[in-house]
Amino acid sequence: MTLRGRRVKGRFIHAPQSGEIEVLDDAVLTLDAEGTITAIGTGEADVVLPEGTLVLPGFVDLHIHAPQYPQLGQALDAPLEVWLGKYTFPLEARYADLDFARPRYETLVKDLISNGTTTALYFATAHLEATKLLADICLAAGQRALVGKVVMDDPNSCPEYYRDASPEVAVAETRALIDYVRGLASDGRVLPVITPRFIPSCTDAALRGLGTLATECGCHVQTHASESDWAHGYALQRYGKTDTEALDGFGLLTRKTVLAHANFLTDPDMDRIAARGGAVAHCPISNMYFANSVFPLRHALEKGVHVGLGTDISGGPIASLWDAARGAVQASRLLEGGVDPKLPADKRGRTNSRIDIATAFHLATAGGGQALDLPVGCFAVGQKFDAMLIDPRVAAGTIRLFSETDPVAIFEKVLYTASRPNIAAVWIDGRRVGGAA
Ligand code: GUN
Ligand code: FE
Repeated sequence: MTLRGRRVKGRFIHAPQSGEIEVLDDAVLTLDAEGTITAIGTGEADVVLPEGTLVLPGFVDLHIHAPQYPQLGQALDAPLEVWLGKYTFPLEARYADLDFARPRYETLVKDLISNGTTTALYFATAHLEATKLLADICLAAGQRALVGKVVMDDPNSCPEYYRDASPEVAVAETRALIDYVRGLASDGRVLPVITPRFIPSCTDAALRGLGTLATECGCHVQTHASESDWAHGYALQRYGKTDTEALDGFGLLTRKTVLAHANFLTDPDMDRIAARGGAVAHCPISNMYFANSVFPLRHALEKGVHVGLGTDISGGPIASLWDAARGAVQASRLLEGGVDPKLPADKRGRTNSRIDIATAFHLATAGGGQALDLPVGCFAVGQKFDAMLIDPRVAAGTIRLFSETDPVAIFEKVLYTASRPNIAAVWIDGRRVGGAA
């Protein structure tokens, strides 16, 4: 049922601030005809959500490669630079065929919504037409989506069968995508993104052209930065600069830039990103396979960097922000405690690194919204009503409550143990777009 134009009563739980859970019990949210929250209060409602259920903000997946969904759970045996050439570029190249692309993109978008992902920041492929198709599919499915045509034009690193014809073509097609997506009747729900894959796949001419375009069009920018030892070392060799410094030099580090992974950021890199207002998409599951290290999440937060969470499908083999949030806590614990039992305890880890599940939940919701500078991720006047209804009692689900009554204790169990059958409904812009019930 649509909640647009209605007053909705229930238990709402969100984390507008990092590390703090707020429970709004018996709250009444008023939505306008576009699905924006216009009031939060108590009293009369048009819709009363079932007893025992709770509403969470929808998740923001801040880094995901839509075309890699067919290899989810496969091809996890090789280091990043091998994985790209051996598995990933051949798969992505097949999206030149729209009949190949369509069912795969449709399945992914539907699955993400069912898992509670209401906003996704997508890398598509290097193909303009298939990238437009992904935007169309997100529009039709009702998902909030930011979609980028991948730029990869450097003949030294990209195979002939899968690369942009030239830097000029890469920039022109990016501009064409921006025009196309901005022309869709989406009320700003589907947005274009400037998407250089990463420095190793792009020529300086392409990076320069995309930086100019970013200034001209003011749209979002996404790329990979300092992900693995190899990727981090590449920019240092080519420029004598880190990825972050080089991207900034090309005009690609803005308030609306999202840097994926970013494991090997230096302290000055973090200061630079914070100064520009840019963000990091932390991808804890993928990092275990490809990043050679754990992202120092807490340090980045303390430095004032915006951070959200990403699945990095298919570098990360799970299409769910629930797992990314759990993984963020687990990875932070490994960084703090250390991993090599041969080392003495005081040399094994990095103190002050752990985060808790409330922080991970904030990053998966409000943190992602802030990273994108979009009004999503928590329940407040002016925010879009992007949310999911959790029913902890569904037998087919995986949450098991016994005698818990404290809402924070219930919330923790929900965060750690929920699965798809527990997601009874999903709304985006107040419109019902999915859910198990
Ligand atoms: N760096 C460049 N391309 C990719 C990609 O597709 N996945 C990941 N994880 N890192 C990348
Ligand atoms: Fe990635």
